[in-house]
Amino acid sequence: MKIDIVTIFPEYLAPLELSLIGKARTTGVVQLDVHDLRRWTHDVHRTVDDTPYGGGPGMVMRPEPWGLALDELAADAAGGAPGDGAGQAGDGAGSAGDGAWSGRLVVPSPAGVPFTQALAHELADESHLIFACGRYEGIDQRVLDHAAARMPVTEISLGDYVLFGGEVAVLVILEAVIRLLPGVLGNADSLVEESHADGLLEAPGYTKPPTWRELPVPEIVRSGDHGRIARWRRDQALLRTAARRPDLLAALAPDGCGKVVGLPREARGAHQLLEPACPRSQRHALSPRKQQR
Ligand code: ADE
Repeated sequence: MKIDIVTIFPEYLAPLELSLIGKARTTGVVQLDVHDLRRWTHDVHRTVDDTPYGGGPGMVMRPEPWGLALDELAADAAGGAPGDGAGQAGDGAGSAGDGAWSGRLVVPSPAGVPFTQALAHELADESHLIFACGRYEGIDQRVLDHAAARMPVTEISLGDYVLFGGEVAVLVILEAVIRLLPGVLGNADSLVEESHADGLLEAPGYTKPPTWRELPVPEIVRSGDHGRIARWRRDQALLRTAARRPDLLAALAPDGCGKVVGLPREARGAHQLLEPACPRSQRHALSPRKQQR
């Protein structure tokens, strides 16, 4: 997978050299390049922002450097000639970048669609991702509109809060995406059982010693009985999800309701949580109030 990240703070992306992502780069699973947006500025101050039309606080990122950056990164990858403004001063009113573009543009933004495991899988299937890290009050909308006529564009939000810019969001998104690529995780089974893989939160995990600070590991996970352990983990996943993320249970598709068959006795009492998603015959009782958070 090819990944390009455009930012005015390339140093922010330094963690992408570490750990398993660093290794994925070294082994060639991903070819990742971080670009300074100011490379595509041509004025003496290397300006990237300006005051917003219509008034209001803050600054908006000017379209010209973004347009030139995308001309080069998206058109280059498509094997076509960069747009007519690439590498040149100006690009004031021109219609740069009319050749074929490749890849998918990802723009982190609090106004984007929520980032989920399903979206991480979708991005992991792409061969080329280009991330545009906005700062200030965001990027001039015309950059996204222009790109959207040439390539898929997805604005993604990490959650309902506002960050200074898109860099941290890119770190999060890429960590979720790159670990899904073949050859990155030593044990691909980790992907099957983890939280969100089946719409539920993962059960708690334990390791040695069997007792720590007078807290024993639950007997059942030390029993060696894999059938019982699997059922216990399923129960714990349901209990946790009911307590912490009832929205996930409610969102299970009707055929996903089969997964809640065998709900632990202590979790009964809030079947209304599942009513929107499940036929009456498949409803099961959940009591978040009884669960530890
Ligand atoms: N940039 C600023 N806030 C953001 C958020 N919540 N998610 C993604 N990118 C952002």
